Amino acid sequence: MPDLGQARIAVIGLGYVGLPLAVAFGRRFPTLGFDINGQRIGELRRGHDHTLEVSEEELGAAAQLQFSDDAEALKGCNVFIVTVPTPIDEYKRPDLRPLESASRTVGRAIGRGGVAIYESTVYPGATEEVCVPIIERESGLKFNQDFFAGYSPERINPGDKEHRLETILKVTSGSTPEAADFIDALYRSIVAAGTHRASSIRVAEAAKVIENTQRDVNIALINELALIFHRLGIDTHEVLEAAGTKWNFLPFRPGLVGGHCIGVDPYYLTHKAQQIGYHPDVILAGRRINDGMGAHVARRTVKLMQRRGIQTAGANVLVLGLAFKENCPDLRNTRVVDIVAELRSYNANVHLHDPWVDPHEAHAEYGLPLVETPEAGSYDAIVLAVSHREFVQLGADGIRRLGKPGAVLFDVKRALPRAAVDDCL
Ligand SMILES: NC(=O)c1ccc[n+]([C@@H]2O[C@H](COP(=O)([O-])OP(=O)(O)OC[C@H]3O[C@@H](n4cnc5c(N)ncnc54)[C@H](O)[C@@H]3O)[C@@H](O)[C@H]2O)c1
Repeated sequence: MPDLGQARIAVIGLGYVGLPLAVAFGRRFPTLGFDINGQRIGELRRGHDHTLEVSEEELGAAAQLQFSDDAEALKGCNVFIVTVPTPIDEYKRPDLRPLESASRTVGRAIGRGGVAIYESTVYPGATEEVCVPIIERESGLKFNQDFFAGYSPERINPGDKEHRLETILKVTSGSTPEAADFIDALYRSIVAAGTHRASSIRVAEAAKVIENTQRDVNIALINELALIFHRLGIDTHEVLEAAGTKWNFLPFRPGLVGGHCIGVDPYYLTHKAQQIGYHPDVILAGRRINDGMGAHVARRTVKLMQRRGIQTAGANVLVLGLAFKENCPDLRNTRVVDIVAELRSYNANVHLHDPWVDPHEAHAEYGLPLVETPEAGSYDAIVLAVSHREFVQLGADGIRRLGKPGAVLFDVKRALPRAAVDDCL
């Protein structure tokens, strides 16, 4: 294992997680930021981060950080940190291809005494069962003798300027006690909030995946309550406000559960559970409820339109927001697409507007065109799907001005005063 002073770090995969990490290490250690996406490397070399997680000044301050899309450049490194995506496939099964490919890259570059640390969210066991054997095969080195491994999950929250890499306590783990010591010391050198050393890689993997699973299930419960209270004609937010006065009532709100973490990670855990013969009822029920919320919002909007005599077929419906959450350009696994699909199934013309989202990305990812400036007085219904600050600033009156007289306004996020909208979750 290298001494901390001799660490030459490679961060593999420079997305929302990898780039801030590379920048933090690049202030203290010789660091190579590696990504297979040449365009991403190009923009970072020019000092720009389109994910808006890292500013130009922060990039400039990482004096020892270099970028490359050439795997040969990894050869001089002795610590490899993998931060590639861990998505699911169309059957909602873990798609480990990026992780396997990154492990091959590590295996070809790692030398004796090298350390491979995984940050990508996985199921318990994935690092040692899937990644380590690939490194062994590619490198010809022996695990825990010639090279070591660790797992240290990331907890950042895209778009959140308060909870940053440096300010969130970081869980660390290693494949031997010495590896765990080294990895813990490495992260302690950049994370001001400190570290929590888990007893094993599997414990650290499990801890990460349940953080998001717990959120998912809690939101699902509130979404289910919202479905029940809607049928009962009770305002869910008023109920939550009242129940929230009890000290141990948790403050979850109903809504769409998108993004590539909360709506995806539970499937990693359920996959592993099913592999070992356990059917996870609660987790999968939560997933089903959360995945149904977009269509539910659309159906309620359509019902309101019909009640007002607005014919849905051919109607113009404006959906405000496509990003998976507010004040963030991240489009991955946004469930706003479910609202769009359900509205379209009624033959409505859906117009999408999101000032945060790159229109080329929206088109490439979902085939959805974006309206640059919604035209005032043009829409039969408006769904406020994401509470970007621009929409909140516009206020209910400003948003209503975009609609025709009598247009329906549905507020998914309860971002506007209840009395000023026609319906909300
Ligand atoms: N974004 C978050 O909020 C967040 C928080 C905690 C954990 N995570 C987890 O961290 C991991 C990474 O997420 P992200 O949001 O940074 O993803 P991302 O999609 O923003 O970035 C991943 C980067 O990896 C690159 N890449 C893909 N395959 C590669 C390979 N084989 N070699 C080198 N580079 C490769 C891509 O080009 C991309 O630039 C995921 O497992 C995710 O679940 C994400």
